[in-house]
Amino acid sequence: MRRGAACLRGRDRDLLRRRRKRARALQAGRRGLGQENRQQRPGISTPNSTTERLALYQQLLAAGSSDIDVYQIDVIWPGTLKSHFIDLKPYSKGAEAAHFRSIVENNTVDGKLLAMPWYTDVGLLFYRKDLLAKYGAKPPESWAELSDIAARIQDGERKAGNDKMWGFVWQGRAYEGLTCNAVEWIDSYKGALLDASGHVTVNSPAAKQALTTASGWVGNISPEGVLNYQEEEARGVFQSGNAVFMRNWPYAWALANAADSPVSGKVGITALPKGGADGKHSATLGGWQLAVAKYSKHPELAADLVMYLTTEAEQKRRAIAGAYNPTIPSLYKDPEVLAANPFFADLGPVLAGAVARPSRVTGVNYPKVSNAFWDAVHAVLAKSTPPEEALAELDRNLKRMLR
Ligand code: GLC
Repeated sequence: MRRGAACLRGRDRDLLRRRRKRARALQAGRRGLGQENRQQRPGISTPNSTTERLALYQQLLAAGSSDIDVYQIDVIWPGTLKSHFIDLKPYSKGAEAAHFRSIVENNTVDGKLLAMPWYTDVGLLFYRKDLLAKYGAKPPESWAELSDIAARIQDGERKAGNDKMWGFVWQGRAYEGLTCNAVEWIDSYKGALLDASGHVTVNSPAAKQALTTASGWVGNISPEGVLNYQEEEARGVFQSGNAVFMRNWPYAWALANAADSPVSGKVGITALPKGGADGKHSATLGGWQLAVAKYSKHPELAADLVMYLTTEAEQKRRAIAGAYNPTIPSLYKDPEVLAANPFFADLGPVLAGAVARPSRVTGVNYPKVSNAFWDAVHAVLAKSTPPEEALAELDRNLKRMLR
């Protein structure tokens, strides 16, 4: 049998190793594969950055490569990559009905189920419970409150001897993660990049206020280096005890509370702050799906693996071991899942109200739209372009792109 593989990011590798062992045993049991064959199904590690990963996938898929059978795809990609994956419906036997309907709809393009939901993601505010208690602060309701608390604790802790302390870390590098952060800021002020029918709405007072606010953090409560941070850089600073607040995805919970983490037991999670009294809490919807390449030489076996990896039992195991958010609603009531992730109990409204990036309405154009957006935002954060100028130019670019 040829070599087959699944594309996964670095931090998933350990989980993957164990999962693969079980999946192989299952596959082998089902199909009577020999030991020799079972060892020939490696995983390929891929870049952590969603943006770099898409570039790699596009290369492999455009070449019609049969090296990879199963792809881990971002929630924003079904439209972009639709021509490369098989319809999983003939293999799923209706199993998708147990998953969040909105995600299944997201993964269904032109009537084809192009990917099974694997885990979902929402942007969350992580905070140091111990530090907030020490300074008599409550988790912030608005960005202005966050900024005040962050500055106060950062100052106090620096005076007390930790000169590495920062108030707030997040993802400011020019990549898809910045799009996720900036969509949240703008949505928290009730603005949007595009409206539901795909009209460009980004040049708004809400967006201007959101970007002005965020650029004010850089160099004050957030290090200049945040302009180059992805998820793992932000987690590194927070987990080593050098940040009061962090914006990140749920996976950071399991790692921040691991036995070797300096902040284990000291972390709280809450909704991201509102954009002022009239604003709203916002969370970008993220998440990952599993899809089978059209070019796979073993589509049945690959689809079988996808169906196994997305089962309730497997999602439960990953939720407990890695705080990966299940896409099967009943698991949010599972006592063992909740014991490992107490914050899951409050995630219902956050998941239900999460803001989607405009990938469905823009389809194959989404990567270009997002790239133009994060470039404009990055220029504002780096203070190389004033917000009104960056937004006006972005508005023109997006309108041209989507004409
Ligand atoms: C997370 C999300 C994904 C998003 C990415 C950005 O992995 O699940 O949807 O695109 O972060 O960095």
